[in-house]
Amino acid sequence: MVEPCTFVVFGATGNLSRNKLLPAIYHLEEADRLPSHMAIIGISRQAWNKASFHADTEDLLKGKARGGLKPTVLERLLQRVHLLTGDIMDPAFFTEFNAYLDKNPEIPRNIIFYMAIPPAQYASVARALAEAGLNREDHGFRRIVIEKPFGYDVETARQLDTSLHKDFREEQIFRIDHYLGKSMVQNVLVFRFANIMLEPLWNRNYIDHIQITHAETQGIAGRAAYYDDTGALRDMLQSHLLQMMTLVAMEPPASFDAESLRDEKVKVLKSIRPIHKRAVAANAFRAQYSSGRNKGQNIPGYLQEDGVAQHSVTETYASMRLFIDNWRWRNVPFYLRTGKRLAKNSSVISIRFKHAPQQLFRKTPIDELKPNWIVMGIQPQECVRIELQTKQAGLEFIAQTTQLDASYCSSSALQLDAYEALLLDVIENDASLFLRYDEIHWAWEVVDPILKTWESEREYIATYPAGSWGPDDSKLFDRENQAWRNSMDEE
Ligand code: BG6
Repeated sequence: MVEPCTFVVFGATGNLSRNKLLPAIYHLEEADRLPSHMAIIGISRQAWNKASFHADTEDLLKGKARGGLKPTVLERLLQRVHLLTGDIMDPAFFTEFNAYLDKNPEIPRNIIFYMAIPPAQYASVARALAEAGLNREDHGFRRIVIEKPFGYDVETARQLDTSLHKDFREEQIFRIDHYLGKSMVQNVLVFRFANIMLEPLWNRNYIDHIQITHAETQGIAGRAAYYDDTGALRDMLQSHLLQMMTLVAMEPPASFDAESLRDEKVKVLKSIRPIHKRAVAANAFRAQYSSGRNKGQNIPGYLQEDGVAQHSVTETYASMRLFIDNWRWRNVPFYLRTGKRLAKNSSVISIRFKHAPQQLFRKTPIDELKPNWIVMGIQPQECVRIELQTKQAGLEFIAQTTQLDASYCSSSALQLDAYEALLLDVIENDASLFLRYDEIHWAWEVVDPILKTWESEREYIATYPAGSWGPDDSKLFDRENQAWRNSMDEE
């Protein structure tokens, strides 16, 4: 049985709470997965007005509830909600918070604190919680959920972790990377390790290269205050994309328990060939969107977005080439890229195999055999697709690409948001899909030289028109016959 608990959201009116947490909680309520005795406490600096909060939540969820908003579910959800106004940067707030708990003994004392706040505030809020005794587990569990980016670079991540550990045990800290909650990301493990036919091929002898793309059509969605100091490399690559890469590249873990999984992921990250400062230009690329068009709409450039610094050189697109120096992957390039305001929403892992020997087909109309691909659509299309060459029907000896589609290739009706799964995991104390600090450390080690180099080169940044597939970064590719595969269907 799931224990009663209280879910406290710091930054309850912010972008993350509104766009991800609230809809996730609504869907869990709808699916009857929340503990029956559960309170939700939203904390924000803004003064709350209960009626307008309810109206606003209803409006928000109308656009986000899968299958339409159900008034009875909303009603149940709102009954759980308490709204508190306060400045979490002021330690006095936490004394008031304690007093609020004392006045409301029906609020469960198992408490999850969710940091949906700017990363620069994580350490001080955690400290203030501890000073008010809210980290102590005398009357129930106390867990904190820390969003990414965890730190700003190697050094600040270390400082943050040390600071958290002064007041919280490792078991109380849930470092979230919501990509690990996506069912297709988890499917990478099942697909790899439940199919014996793949294992002999999954290495440098057969794989030419691997691409991981996360493309978004949206811009910074009103988050300039966060994004302009962060950029695409920290926002997506250091966390979500490197996590996906570890799952594609890792050795089979001894079991799916949290420690075995994390051990294998760390080994991958540690084996990534360091990019020396001198080699950054050859192995990484950054760019920023300028104005453009998508689906008939004019889109302003990044510099025109509200809140962006006038001459900002923050990257909204980042790509890089990495090598994993171990026996399985030596010299196989991994190409990673992410960008905002690109042509389509598409997160795809594409694995290209080497060419089959052509000799046999030399005297046939087949002049060039296409290579095999395994393409894993993470979103919006959830799919595993294997591309094989077969003969076209008819008398001619012509090859064609045949696609074998596996699982998930369905509509999005069954799609579960990653936050739903991960919130339940925190409630149920399952840390396997959360990050251990050493994973974060090694991921920062990978990107740190790139960050430092880019920080020192502040005069110029390449641009790409909004609505396009990004800048020309083809110099990253090792060979002329390698190029980005933009989505599931386009090679
Ligand atoms: C977040 C980033 O972690 O992930 C956002 O901060 C990005 O910039 C988002 O848009 C993408 O997540 P999803 O689940 O919408 O693909």
